[in-house]
Amino acid sequence: MKALVVYDSVFGNTEKIALAVGNSLGPKENIATLRVGDVKPDHLNALELLIVGSPTRAFRPTKAVDDFLNGIPSNGLKGVKVAAFDTRISTADVRSSFLRAVLSVMVRLFGYAAKPIADKLGKKGGSLIAPPEGFFVKDSEGPLKEGELERAAKWARQVTGAL
Ligand SMILES: Cc1cc2nc3c(=O)[nH]c(=O)nc-3n(C[C@H](O)[C@H](O)[C@H](O)COP(=O)(O)O)c2cc1C
Repeated sequence: MKALVVYDSVFGNTEKIALAVGNSLGPKENIATLRVGDVKPDHLNALELLIVGSPTRAFRPTKAVDDFLNGIPSNGLKGVKVAAFDTRISTADVRSSFLRAVLSVMVRLFGYAAKPIADKLGKKGGSLIAPPEGFFVKDSEGPLKEGELERAAKWARQVTGAL
C-alpha cells in the first residue's frame, strides 16, 4: 500500500498526530508523512491512501491545506481512498461560560476542519473510508489532551482496516 499523510501545523500538535497516524499505517517504506508545503504533484501518483489533517482555525482548515486541496486536479483522486482529521478545542474546555455558549452555537453552525477537508477530498474523486475525525488540544497552542496520540494511532489502524 502506498500511503501519504499530509498535514499542516502551527504549534506542532497536528504534526504529532500526523506522525502518530503515519507511523501506524503499516510498513514505513510505503508511507510518507509530509507537511503540506513539501508535497509535490508526484507524491500523489499511484497512491492508494491519502490522509489530510489540519488544525481547526476559525472553524476551517488552514489556508495552506485549502490551497493544497484546491490544487488537486478534478478527479485527481479517482481510485484513491481518503480520510481527514483535524485538531480542535472542545467547547467544554473554554473557561468563560459566556464564550462557551457562543462558541457552542458557532461550532454547531460551522463545525471543525476535518469535515470540509473530507468533502473536498471526495469532490476530487477520492473515496472516503472513515468519518472525519478530530483530536483535542487542551488550549490553543496545545498540548494535546492525554491519550490523543494513542487514539490517533488506533484511528489509523481502523482506517487501514477499512482498505
Ligand atoms: C487563530 C486561531 C483560531 C482557532 N480557531 C479554532 C476553531 O474555530 N475551533 C477550534 O476547535 N479550535 C480553534 N483554534 C485552536 C486550534 O485548533 C489549535 O491551535 C490547534 O489545534 C493546534 O494545532 P497545531 O499545534 O498543529 O497548530 C484556533 C486557534 C487559533 C490560534
